[in-house]
Amino acid sequence: MEDPTPPTFTAPQRRQFAKKLLAWFSTAARDLPWRRTRDLYSIWISEIMLQQTQVATVIGYHERFLAAFPNVAALAAAEETQVLRLWEGLGYYRRARQLHTAAKKIVAEHGGDFPRSYEAVRALPGIGRYTAGAILSIGLDQRLPILEANTIRVFSRLIALADDPRTTRSQARLWTFAEEILPAENCGAFNQALMELGSEICTPKAPSCAVCPVSAHCAVYAQGRTAEIPLAAKKTTYTDLTETAVVVRRGSKFLIRQCQPGERWAGLWDFPRFSSPPASHESWLPTASDHLLNWLDVQIEPIAHLATTKHGVTRFRITLHVLDATWIAGGKTSAQQRWVTRDELHELPLSVTGRKIAGLLAPAKPARKKVKS
Ligand code: ADE
Repeated sequence: MEDPTPPTFTAPQRRQFAKKLLAWFSTAARDLPWRRTRDLYSIWISEIMLQQTQVATVIGYHERFLAAFPNVAALAAAEETQVLRLWEGLGYYRRARQLHTAAKKIVAEHGGDFPRSYEAVRALPGIGRYTAGAILSIGLDQRLPILEANTIRVFSRLIALADDPRTTRSQARLWTFAEEILPAENCGAFNQALMELGSEICTPKAPSCAVCPVSAHCAVYAQGRTAEIPLAAKKTTYTDLTETAVVVRRGSKFLIRQCQPGERWAGLWDFPRFSSPPASHESWLPTASDHLLNWLDVQIEPIAHLATTKHGVTRFRITLHVLDATWIAGGKTSAQQRWVTRDELHELPLSVTGRKIAGLLAPAKPARKKVKS
């Protein structure tokens, strides 16, 4: 089916649109920490965190991150482990590693001041067209368009985009539209207002068109097709995986290893964890010790079932059997392998499974009577 010709906003329509949107935003804007500042560093951190994470989750992470690393220099000087620890639970850890690399680059090339030109910002690792536009429009009111999940939905509806908005062709069209409707000034507020509209009013399901400040400009509203546009994404197909993690105890210490590049959670620490057949833990128990011996040269016994948990990571649904074992021999300490106490686990960035298992190991300690021998 051919796209309907997009309604072209005339200059007066664009002015009306911006006026109504900004008036609405001035009363409806949520008070978010990164909206109270024009500090490019703080806005940058918020935008990277918001790339794959909900606003409600980001608030706490943003606050803790800024408290630990209040500026570019502090972030650049940090150990990657510290950065990952503060990112733990947000997922997509590559974002954290790239932030860290970018901070070092800003110190080396811009004297620690977040760059103010679009080209320099785009040259930083982890920053694409959207993020650069968001930081510089929000922080400096530069006239730069943005396109992210919320605005894709808002624009698709405004122009009644019949195609899948994820195709290259649609993306090009949406970027052009994003540029077209930008006002001459107040671009930071305007871009944030668009995102706010997408998040609060122009929602994926059952948008609140009755209270939308710009419904008069919306093609799908006029056509009564809000439920159809934007076209839904293809359903994610999930893959079931079964994994086994082993808690190897050596006195008060536990064996952990650092996930290597190419592994899920690269850079984070975890209990030895490996994929196993989709069988019950009982049938897998005897082979787990052989596996650990072959893989990490650690000899263990006895081995018992501690817990089975289920969790989702990206498109995987993982059943994790957690086994409990006592160390006998092997398990040398190296850069990627350590013996740590429960308290030390608290300081290290752990994978989602690692943190879950650490939780299993931390029962409230009952006061024990000393037994004299
Ligand atoms: N999503 C991405 N960036 C955002 C922002 N600055 N405000 C609200 N939601 C967002």
